[in-house]
Amino acid sequence: TRTTVGIVGAGPAGLMLSHLLALSGIDSIAIDTRTRTEIEHTHRAGILERDSVRLLVDSGVSDRVLTDGHEHKGIDLRFGGTSHRIDFQGLVGASTWLYPQTDVFIDLANARSRDGGDVRFGVTDTQVVDVTSSAPGIRFTDADGVRQEIRCTHLVGADGSRSICRREVPEEQRKQYFREYPFAWFGILAEAPRSAEELIYTRSDHGFALISQRTDTVQRMYFQCDATEDVDQWSDDRIWDELQRRLAGEDGFRLAEGKILERTVLPFRSFVQEPMRYGNMLLAGDAAHTVPPTGAKGLNLALADVRVLAETLEHAVLKNDAEALDHYTGRALDRVWKAQHFSYWMTTMLHSAAGASDFDVQRQLGELRSVVGSEAGSRYLAEAYTGWPRG
Ligand code: DHB
Repeated sequence: TRTTVGIVGAGPAGLMLSHLLALSGIDSIAIDTRTRTEIEHTHRAGILERDSVRLLVDSGVSDRVLTDGHEHKGIDLRFGGTSHRIDFQGLVGASTWLYPQTDVFIDLANARSRDGGDVRFGVTDTQVVDVTSSAPGIRFTDADGVRQEIRCTHLVGADGSRSICRREVPEEQRKQYFREYPFAWFGILAEAPRSAEELIYTRSDHGFALISQRTDTVQRMYFQCDATEDVDQWSDDRIWDELQRRLAGEDGFRLAEGKILERTVLPFRSFVQEPMRYGNMLLAGDAAHTVPPTGAKGLNLALADVRVLAETLEHAVLKNDAEALDHYTGRALDRVWKAQHFSYWMTTMLHSAAGASDFDVQRQLGELRSVVGSEAGSRYLAEAYTGWPRG
């Protein structure tokens, strides 16, 4: 089979790219080793930047984010047992939307099938070949067990943090940047009413906690834990005690409790691979970079990559301007490193580091007071959180 753009990975990045290319009249095929149901049930973050919402709505994917999502005009930073609101609207005139990544995926998958897009879920034994040639290939076994080969002009690796495409770049031609953190997040879904209308990012002497939401009856929360934490050691009561302890303060705040529906430990690291283009292969989203979850930048960065990549491919394919490909890495990485810094900063400002000295603790509290007590400090957070304007 021949197509113009072969896309490995049909998560939000791969599907959004396929959708944007179709709007420009460029054909593509996207494949994924996971089934559609598997992806729909993989819980990820839930916050969309202003421009991510615009992209979904303006490109005609769906308006559902505007009707089923929740606009958040700010967040609370909580420390010393008191909440401090960062007013996004007042500071930068922007909001974010609570709209889970699983819903973004469902909207994109529906839009692709509505528009006749070629997406193959549940494939196995995927291989990418000849990425530096003029006809790179994807080989796989389809869901019916038939061996397939797709040849394309441009191959895109949107295949997530365990990307096989990324490995096609020879070691001597790539650079990988890593940062590990000595903790992880314990994530839960709970059947309970909302405890707050917006998100609460909490720094406590017992570690970080984040209060988020999903629906009127299902809530999403996270708390800092050990990377080796065993979820089976955590009863519902133990989880609620830990969360209540971290949120407690002189204002008497209490979380509404309920049955815990799901518990998982989330990986936590910063990673970038450059370049994001090698021959006729281009990387997008988690395949090229991972951020720690604090600040919910992962999906937003993937969508921003894909917007730039769609423009790049339009130039390369429709205007025969192969030079556009040379600019992709630089354009994408500009935002990636800002988001790396922001995610790292939110993480280190709010988490407890093992072995922190008294100085470290007081410095961290001083940092938090500098942010909430200064319009300049708060505005940087608001600007970064709601998303940098498109470059
Ligand atoms: C959610 C996840 C995040 O990492 C974050 O910073 C905010 C919200 C969420 O899953 O709702």
